[in-house]
Amino acid sequence: MSGENIAIVHNGIIENHEPLRELLKSRGYVFTSQTDTEVIAHLVDWELAQGGSLLEAFQRTVKQLHGAYGTVVMDRRDPERLIAARSGSPLVIGLGIGENFLASDQLALLNVTRRFLFLEEGDVAEITRRAVNIIDIDGQPVERQVHESSAEHDAADKGQYRHYMQKEIFEQPSALINTLEGRIDADSIVVESIGHGATDILKQVEHIQIVACGTSYNAGMVARYWFEGIAGVSCDVEIASEFRYRNFVTRPNSLLITLSQSGETADTLAALRLAKERGFMAAMTICNVAGSSLVRESDLAFMTRAGTEIGVASTKAFTTQLASLLMLVTAVGKQKGTVDKAKEKSIVKALHRLPVVMDQALAFDREIEALAEDFADKHHALFLGRGEFYPIAMEASLKLKEISYIHAEAYAAGELKHGPLA
Ligand code: F6R
Repeated sequence: MSGENIAIVHNGIIENHEPLRELLKSRGYVFTSQTDTEVIAHLVDWELAQGGSLLEAFQRTVKQLHGAYGTVVMDRRDPERLIAARSGSPLVIGLGIGENFLASDQLALLNVTRRFLFLEEGDVAEITRRAVNIIDIDGQPVERQVHESSAEHDAADKGQYRHYMQKEIFEQPSALINTLEGRIDADSIVVESIGHGATDILKQVEHIQIVACGTSYNAGMVARYWFEGIAGVSCDVEIASEFRYRNFVTRPNSLLITLSQSGETADTLAALRLAKERGFMAAMTICNVAGSSLVRESDLAFMTRAGTEIGVASTKAFTTQLASLLMLVTAVGKQKGTVDKAKEKSIVKALHRLPVVMDQALAFDREIEALAEDFADKHHALFLGRGEFYPIAMEASLKLKEISYIHAEAYAAGELKHGPLA
């Protein structure tokens, strides 16, 4: 809040909050928190006092903010009007009948509407019960397309499971069936299913640059072994928050692949935008959320079709990313002539078996639970792996620390003697 009237909801980070705080203090504002959000509230209040409508005041405010944010403001004296702005963080408007909504994710609104407007970078929107007016980054009124969501409302129901992560672990076989659907036939990859124009791009590609964060990065690391080992195409993988802040060299005919469950991870999105400026031949995203920013801003989108992932720790998104990547690797190899018919057939056969094998693994649930008893009181865990199992060890370590708060690390098996053992 600023004073009695200006209320803010803010998701993201304001990077220049310190100088703004000093400026506002010099104007007489008293801060009651250390949050960057409070800076926005006072700034709106100041701008409003300079004249004009709340919309104009908010437009002037967001021009002064640096960072990634989705933010909404309301003036208590005019509570029927909300002003929202998006920069870097997702913001979606849900369209109802005689009512409209704002959220950072459509999932939060599925019980009230299926019709959504996605704000673009720099958009400011004025929302009342009956109208939505959007103004783009250049201050011009714009129309944004209305999307009908096909996400399942019952995705937000845990059913028989104790928590969403457990539910999503058990959804992996069916999620994988969806991922594979229409992309493989009896013994080959359907290259055309990768998207319009994909066949030409895959034929020309000489280098792959994967950029992602967290679990998606680990999936990318697995794919590096596959791109080089199966398709014979050089591949680099980089954490998005590193890639976007360094001076990198763009190789000729290089395809950028972003990997993301949500399609909204700010660092990955920033990396995509940077890569587009820096001469990559094309940008593809392997993503789970249709209509997300990464999907909208990439040349090609390969949807993982894992279904809604609500659990904070990524599970079925990871396995469907791997299946998608293996299909892509095979398609690249096929286009470049490095994957022959026999190899393609053996990969496709393995992919067909994958949901069944996954079911068999999940049937060990009780045994795994019993084994977990032996580890529950440990304080540290070290995961080892070689080759493509090294990133699998990285993912296992990420999952353990994220879920149990047990300190966990991953090591390439051959590197053990160069550190931990020494
Ligand atoms: C780990 C996890 C995170 C995400 C990461 C990237 O279980 O959930 O590490 O993988 O924040 O998110 P996406 O894939 O949505 O870009």
